Amino acid sequence: MKVAIASDHGGVKIREEIKQLMDELNISYVDLGCECNESVDYPDYAFPVAEKVASGEVDKGILICGTGIGMSIAANKVKGIRCALVHDTFSAKATREHNDSNILAMGERVIGPGLARDIAKIWLTTDYEGGRHKRRVDKISSYEAVTTDQSE
Ligand code: RB5
Repeated sequence: MKVAIASDHGGVKIREEIKQLMDELNISYVDLGCECNESVDYPDYAFPVAEKVASGEVDKGILICGTGIGMSIAANKVKGIRCALVHDTFSAKATREHNDSNILAMGERVIGPGLARDIAKIWLTTDYEGGRHKRRVDKISSYEAVTTDQSE
């Protein structure tokens, strides 16, 4: 599995924590920033990660900002992305099993690095269940395909 990870200036500590976790789990990743010497704009980091996931260049993405909200809104604009904003371990497991989420967003002003690590570990290691959930995820993809065609 290969992961793309990025944060804005509000998510640097958790980004470093999750990179350490991925090193321990032998998961390869590409770090797309930010350098964060100053305040940056979260869409500039969400879109490159989302595009790498959507194109299949990487399997999953992880995005961190102050709340996780801006990153998740931006990532979900990219076709094929199912970005889940998660701040608890139950949802981390459920969104992999049920939604086949392909990007995890978290907020560093909401949770600490310990909980973020637990959430990321569960999210990275939980498989999609498919079955009845596939029908629902397929409906999202079908809707996305129709609405994308209309705007082209
Ligand atoms: C940056 O101040 C902050 O707005 C950003 O990190 C994030 O919380 C946006 O949703």
